[in-house]
Amino acid sequence: MAKRFHLGWFTNFATDEWNGPFSNGGDPWNGKFYVEMAQALERACFDYIMFEDKLAISEIYGGSSEAVLKHGLGMVPKGDPAPLCAMIAGATSKIGIVATLSTLGYPPYLLARLCSTIDSLAEGRFGWNIVTSAENAAAQNFGLDELPPRELRYDMAYEYLDLVIKLFNSWEPDAVKRDRENGVYADFRKVHTINHEGRFFKSRGPLNCVRSPQGVPALIQAGASPKGRAFAAQYADAVVAVNQGTKAMKEFRDDIRARAAAAGRDPDDVKILYLIAPTLAETVEEAQAKYARMASAPSFIEMNLCLISSITDIDFKAFDLDKPLPGKLTTNGEQGSLDSFQQWGSGKTLRQLVTEASGGLVSSVELIGTPETVAERMGEVMEEVGGDGFLITTPHLGVNRRVIHEVTDGLVPALQRRGLMRTEYGEKTLRGNLKAF
Ligand SMILES: Cc1cc2nc3c(=O)[nH]c(=O)nc-3n(C[C@H](O)[C@H](O)[C@H](O)COP(=O)(O)O)c2cc1C
Repeated sequence: MAKRFHLGWFTNFATDEWNGPFSNGGDPWNGKFYVEMAQALERACFDYIMFEDKLAISEIYGGSSEAVLKHGLGMVPKGDPAPLCAMIAGATSKIGIVATLSTLGYPPYLLARLCSTIDSLAEGRFGWNIVTSAENAAAQNFGLDELPPRELRYDMAYEYLDLVIKLFNSWEPDAVKRDRENGVYADFRKVHTINHEGRFFKSRGPLNCVRSPQGVPALIQAGASPKGRAFAAQYADAVVAVNQGTKAMKEFRDDIRARAAAAGRDPDDVKILYLIAPTLAETVEEAQAKYARMASAPSFIEMNLCLISSITDIDFKAFDLDKPLPGKLTTNGEQGSLDSFQQWGSGKTLRQLVTEASGGLVSSVELIGTPETVAERMGEVMEEVGGDGFLITTPHLGVNRRVIHEVTDGLVPALQRRGLMRTEYGEKTLRGNLKAF
C-alpha cells in the first residue's frame, strides 16, 4: 500500500497572473479569485492553502521599486492575508487556511487575538505562518532603522511564541459554560492572567476572546538556519522547506525530526512540506516546451531576480547573468532561500540558476511532464525522502485558473489513483488533518 502524503499550496494575496495568454486577472482585491482557488483546492482535498506575506515594497533590485511594480506579479502589490483568510473560511468547510503574520509587525496580544478569532471563524482550520520578517524595508515601516540581526530576531521570536501560546491557553478548554440554569456564560475561574514579563515583551492577559477550536492555531514555519530549524522543531506543525534534490531534502527532514525528538516532541507531529513548481501538459514533450517557453520569456528572469533581491536585500541586477556569482553571498535576510538559490560551488551562471528547476528558488525537484509522470515522480521522491508532502507553487507565485485546475483536476486525481493522496478529509481541524498520517 502506497504511503499517503500531504499537499498544500503556497501563494500570496497578490495579483493573479494578469497578462499571460491564459490569464485575465490582476484585480483579485475583492478576494473572490482566492476564494474560488481555495474551493478548487478543497475539492482536491488539499491540507491547506497558505499565503506568504511581506510588509514593504522592495527597492533593492536596481535600487528602485520600478521593476517590482512594473511586473505587478509575485511580491507587490499585496493585500493583508488575515482578512482574506477570514473570507475564505466563510466560503469553505474543510480546507486549512494559513496566513503569514510577522512577529516584527504585530504586538503579541493583537496577533494572538487575531489568530484565535480567525480560527473560530474557520472552525479550527486556521494556521499561522510564523515569520520574523527579513528585510530592512519592512523594519523601517515599524520604527526601526534596520532589521535586527538574525540571532536577535530568533531570540525575540522564541519569547514571542512563548507569550502568545500562554495567551492562547489563557482560556481553559471548558471555560465557556453557556449555563442557562445558573446564568453563567463563562466561568471566571477558568480564564487566567498570564503576567508575562520577559526580555522583549510584557503582557498581562488573558485574551479577551474565547479559546478557538484548535486552542493554539496550527503553526507553520519556514527557516533553514540552525536557529530557524531549532525553532521549527520546537513549535511547528508543518515546515515550509526548499532543498535542492532528494538527498538534501532527506537530510533536512532527518535533521528537523532529530531536533523535534530532542525537544521532547514526537517527530511525526512535525510535517515537512517541500516547495515544488510542476509544469503539466498532455505529453512530456509539450510540458518541456511549455517550461522552455516560460523560462525564456524576457520577464521571467527579471521577475525571479526581483524576487530573490527583495528577500535577501542583495541587488541581483548588479551581477553578470552569464557568469557564476562573484562569491558566496550572505544576508541578514532569508539566508536559507539564498543558499538554496545560489547553489554555491555548482559553477552555474546566474542565468542557469534562474532558469533551471523553476528558477531554483522555489522548486525542490524538477517536475515537468504529464499528470501521470509527475505523480509517479512525486511518489518516488517521497519514498526516497521519507515524507511528508509537498507545497505546490509557481515560479514567482503567480497563478491563473488554468494552472490551478491542471493540479486539482489532473495531478491530484493521478496522485489519488496511486493512493498517494487522500480522497476525503478525515478530520475537522487543520492540525487534525496534518496529524492523520
Ligand atoms: C520558502 C520560504 C518561505 C518564506 N516565506 C516568508 C514570508 O512569507 N514572509 C516572511 O517575512 N518571511 C518568509 N520566509 C523567511 C523565513 O521566515 C525566515 O525569516 C528566513 O528564512 C530566515 O531564516 P533562516 O535564516 O533560518 O532561513 C520564508 C522562507 C522560506 C524558505
